[in-house]
Amino acid sequence: MTSGPSSFYITTPIYYPSDVPHIGHGYTTVAVDTLARWHRQAGDDTWMLTGTDEHGQKMMRAAAANGATPQEWVDRLVGESWFPLLKTLDVANDDFIRTTQPRHEERVRAFVQAIYDRGYIYAGEFEALYCVGCEEFKTESEIVDGTGPFEGLKVCAIHSKPLELLQEKNYFFKLSEFQDKLLELYSGGDFIRPESARNEVVSFVKNGLKDLSISRSTFDWGIKVPWDESHVIYVWVDALLNYATAVGYGSDPEEFARRWPAYHVVGKDILRFHAVIWPAMLMAAGVDVPKGVFAHGWLLVGGEKMSKSKLTGIAPTEITDVFGSDAYRFYFLSAIAFGQDGSFSWEDLSARYQAELANGFGNLASRTTAMVERYFEGVVPPPAEYTEADVHIQTTVADAAARADAAIERFRIDEAISSVWTIVDALNLYITENEPWTLAKDDSQRERLGTVLYTAAEGLRALAVLLSPVMPESTEKLWIALGAAESIGRLQDQPIREAGGWGVLKPGTSVNGLAPLFPRVEQSV
Ligand code: ME8
Ligand code: MG
Repeated sequence: MTSGPSSFYITTPIYYPSDVPHIGHGYTTVAVDTLARWHRQAGDDTWMLTGTDEHGQKMMRAAAANGATPQEWVDRLVGESWFPLLKTLDVANDDFIRTTQPRHEERVRAFVQAIYDRGYIYAGEFEALYCVGCEEFKTESEIVDGTGPFEGLKVCAIHSKPLELLQEKNYFFKLSEFQDKLLELYSGGDFIRPESARNEVVSFVKNGLKDLSISRSTFDWGIKVPWDESHVIYVWVDALLNYATAVGYGSDPEEFARRWPAYHVVGKDILRFHAVIWPAMLMAAGVDVPKGVFAHGWLLVGGEKMSKSKLTGIAPTEITDVFGSDAYRFYFLSAIAFGQDGSFSWEDLSARYQAELANGFGNLASRTTAMVERYFEGVVPPPAEYTEADVHIQTTVADAAARADAAIERFRIDEAISSVWTIVDALNLYITENEPWTLAKDDSQRERLGTVLYTAAEGLRALAVLLSPVMPESTEKLWIALGAAESIGRLQDQPIREAGGWGVLKPGTSVNGLAPLFPRVEQSV
């Protein structure tokens, strides 16, 4: 029996459009886009979902503060800021879900009704401290004493803003029943990655789970509880369900079977929702749990988690306007070990742009294509006999491609890029050591010169394929400059798991002029 291409469904969190996006949202989104592009290019049946989380109290308050209705506010923010973010960062998502869409609201009601019918929901009384920033009730360990204007108050450890005492009759989800099943799920290996995230969740769940309040009756900006319309569904239950409703849960069984289950990539701030509450909800409904949850770290600015609520937010366009979207993608994905925190600074960004992109990859591309133009009238020469140095490049390419694919399987985009970068470094060294400009002065070295430039050009062909998920724009320019678009086909169609092979670029291919891929950036004051 032959099996079809394997399904790879991957999601970003759906962000709160209470405010404009910052580079933290952009970070998760480009990471997921890169993983999706890699798998798509490998021939997997790939689907990438992103979207916005539009209900809840935080949204109501943001709208009120701006003199708008919640619907007006989310429509404006999503249209003016969140859709454009995807263009700004060159993201090729397959779908964008908004939790105010009828396709979502109807299926959320169906799901909640299903777990109610299965006996997992009951009515109860509740009183606890709530953080509107997190849209979450807080336990003792997540509450700290306020300082400054909030002296004497209890504040959220993440948002540093006062908590509110909520006392309500709510509906509860029997989360406490799922402790053993969840622990069993985590013991199976890599459901939660990285290891540190897994350990944190395991110890949290081992401490015991409380039932979860899943409805609110003090405001109405949400999806109504099907059996009691005086309540709206808790915004996190509504939000988590996007991953299922977007691919046909409750409406298109074939599509749902094709896509589900998903991989979720999230920031570690929302790991528990994804690794504890979400699989328990699915288990209660009798639906497969996700394939895995990967929690990445925080972007830190001045040593603190960057956030809008603390006014340290940086807009993605501040970076892309100066350096371009490829540099944004490359920088965050290569400079930070995926899964760990990373500090953002403009100095680090410009230094890496200059060293790795302009002088490393960009310069390799320019000088190789320029030498093919100068010494072979723009036609890729055939290789003659390969020496040890040439074969070393071939094995570097093969090893790098294999290691990069293995790293992507583990969601370690940073490691994939550093594997691919061994090709950039090896080729730059190869050119320096083989001195094609010296070979060009000696007619008897014509064949050797051809071999060296073929090796460099074919190495660039592999680099274009392997880096296209990370830097779609510059690799496309390189692909066209190499004449590969005409002689081989579209870059995004090149099978990435075969990128490490040798001899794909055909001698005789016409190389076109290449403007600098990463132009000099004027230092701002
Ligand atoms: O939590 N560093 O939405 P949100 C890295 N709507 N990533 C960051 C970051 C930072 N400093 N700040 C934000 C929500 N992020 C819910 C999600 S999902 C069913 C519902 C990224 O707008 C990171 O991915 O607060 C984090 O998890 C997410 O934005 C939170 O976005
Ligand atoms: Mg948040």
